[in-house]
Amino acid sequence: MNKLRNKPIGQIVAENLTAARVFEAHGMDFCCHGAQTLENACKDHHVTVKQLEAELSALSQLPSQDDSDVSDMELNELTHHIVTVHHVYTKKMLPVIAGHLDTVVKVHGVNHPTLFDIRKNFNSLREELEPHLEKEEKRVFPYIDALAKNIPLPSVDFHKISQPITLLEKEHENAGRIFDDINNLAQGYKPPSDACNTYRLALRELQELEQDLHLHIAQENYLLFPKAIKCEQERLQKC
Ligand SMILES: [Fe+2]
Ligand SMILES: [Fe+2]
Repeated sequence: MNKLRNKPIGQIVAENLTAARVFEAHGMDFCCHGAQTLENACKDHHVTVKQLEAELSALSQLPSQDDSDVSDMELNELTHHIVTVHHVYTKKMLPVIAGHLDTVVKVHGVNHPTLFDIRKNFNSLREELEPHLEKEEKRVFPYIDALAKNIPLPSVDFHKISQPITLLEKEHENAGRIFDDINNLAQGYKPPSDACNTYRLALRELQELEQDLHLHIAQENYLLFPKAIKCEQERLQKC
């Protein structure tokens, strides 16, 4: 890590694209001013090299790397896990990726016109996902948590949990389809030879979000929702 001090920040990003998030958070320009060393960039942005190095090492614990064992979790632990791991990550990355795509379309759109379609699809995905996450967090998960804890249920506008679940599953399907289109348009997220760091970063972020979304949806469709339906049936039978 000590060797990083004299390395140009553009090179650091080229070798590890996720490092761009750290530089962006400090307003450091790794594209047009990527030739400046980490040490000089730190001086200009009033941050110590030590702090920056610590932030760069923490990148190995990115929230999208979900390897938790969720199979034995109680329902309320599962909703907590999904919100704190997947929803927090998704809500953080949607605007970040949108910003990167705007930059990339502006700079490379003329030479790579598919970028316009990728951005259009991504914006549709964002319009789908943001209210979807909100619905789960405000309407469906509190009901599931009450089922899990066997406490009075919150007042809701559905008779059975299977009703909102059917809709959420349709929305999952739709989001998955949009991401398939993005993946195809981006040719499996392989950057073209003339892609700048931001272009490569946007592709990497799309790929990570897609992987995370697949895991996120699988945990809801195949674990959370069937368990919630079963729990509700058992509770109704006791009444
Ligand atoms: Fe979710
Ligand atoms: Fe969902």
